[in-house]
Amino acid sequence: MKNEIRVAIAGLGNCASALVQGIYYYKDVKREDELVPGLMYNLVGKYRPKDIKIVAVFDVDKRKVGKDVSKAIFALPNCVKTFYTNIPNLSTKVKMGPVLDGVPPHFKEYSRDKGFVVSKEKPVNIAKELKKSGAQILITLLPVGSEKAIRFYANEALKANCALVNCIPVFIASDKKWSDKFKKKGLPVIGDDIKSQIGATIIHRVLANIFSNRGVHILKSYQLNVGGNTDFINLIAKERGKSKKISKTESVQSQLSKRLSYDDLHIAPSDYVPWLKDTKLAFIRLEGRQFGDLPLELEIRLQVHDSPNSAGCIIEAVRLAKIALDRKIAGPLISASAYFMKHPPQQFVDEKAREMVEEFIKGEREV
Ligand SMILES: NC(=O)c1ccc[n+]([C@@H]2O[C@H](COP(=O)([O-])OP(=O)(O)OC[C@H]3O[C@@H](n4cnc5c(N)ncnc54)[C@H](O)[C@@H]3O)[C@@H](O)[C@H]2O)c1
Repeated sequence: MKNEIRVAIAGLGNCASALVQGIYYYKDVKREDELVPGLMYNLVGKYRPKDIKIVAVFDVDKRKVGKDVSKAIFALPNCVKTFYTNIPNLSTKVKMGPVLDGVPPHFKEYSRDKGFVVSKEKPVNIAKELKKSGAQILITLLPVGSEKAIRFYANEALKANCALVNCIPVFIASDKKWSDKFKKKGLPVIGDDIKSQIGATIIHRVLANIFSNRGVHILKSYQLNVGGNTDFINLIAKERGKSKKISKTESVQSQLSKRLSYDDLHIAPSDYVPWLKDTKLAFIRLEGRQFGDLPLELEIRLQVHDSPNSAGCIIEAVRLAKIALDRKIAGPLISASAYFMKHPPQQFVDEKAREMVEEFIKGEREV
């Protein structure tokens, strides 16, 4: 196929399921001027959602390994809302990856249908499989806190000449040592920690920005998040959620006129509520001082389908990575990372980041 984007995925959880469903849900989108609910860009350059072809997938869960991707995306413990069922057989079977630190010990406390069940299959050689599949881009969607596993997969992407879209909050694109490795290999990298279309981070950033711009001095703020998917089980283990906390907090700090201490800017996944499944609730509060040093308070509650919300950004990031490959651009993509990731190499106000992405698409900006 002419415009094909050959993509591999590490971690076929809820976000990956939403992404694969989305590629087929939006299969008829062809023109930029159609009104398509749920997409930021119908076309990114010349690329349509349909151009994304899943050619290799790695996971460790026995209910997914060995199955065709079209079936495995609906296997437990995935609990994302099914919004598109008619996915053809993709002739891409999920292959066993090395577990490393992908499966946290506290998952044992949860029933099988909630946590991961590790397959006994022998792990495949990832770089070799990537090469064999002809993958051009690897999307990493491993569980939060997979420090060793993400570095392993990033290294395999380098060996196999794949660009990387790192959606997890472990730092690769925003870590100079790692982004230099991609630059040296002539490969683009976008990361880290995918944003949502309208998620708690983007709303908190916009509010922080508007308070700062309009002279209201923020003294205290919190963002509490609850949900019922495996990402939330992972996040309640404080050690594993550490980099997520940094990623989310720094994303908001970057929009303030004056940094707040981590005590005064409290951002955390706050609890796992099993019955919420893939529904996520965020509670955001800001307290500041307005004209006359008088108090001003704002509270909002956001309810979203968590994983499709992030897939709406992944589908754009992948197409931008492909444009970078076409143009032989290497190293971190500053514009795409700033607009679509919570912890990019460089933070910008979201409006500016959007402008930069559009300049990049038109070829008016290098990275
Ligand atoms: N849900 C969101 O909206 C969102 C937003 C921003 C970032 N993220 C990040 O994206 C990542 C994926 O999120 P998710 O909700 O899809 O998670 P998930 O828990 O649903 O999926 C993770 C998948 O990785 C697999 N896995 C575990 N160890 C592995 C290994 N070593 N090799 C290959 N596969 C392995 C699991 O079996 C599972 O299928 C997380 O790090 C999350 O923090 C998610």
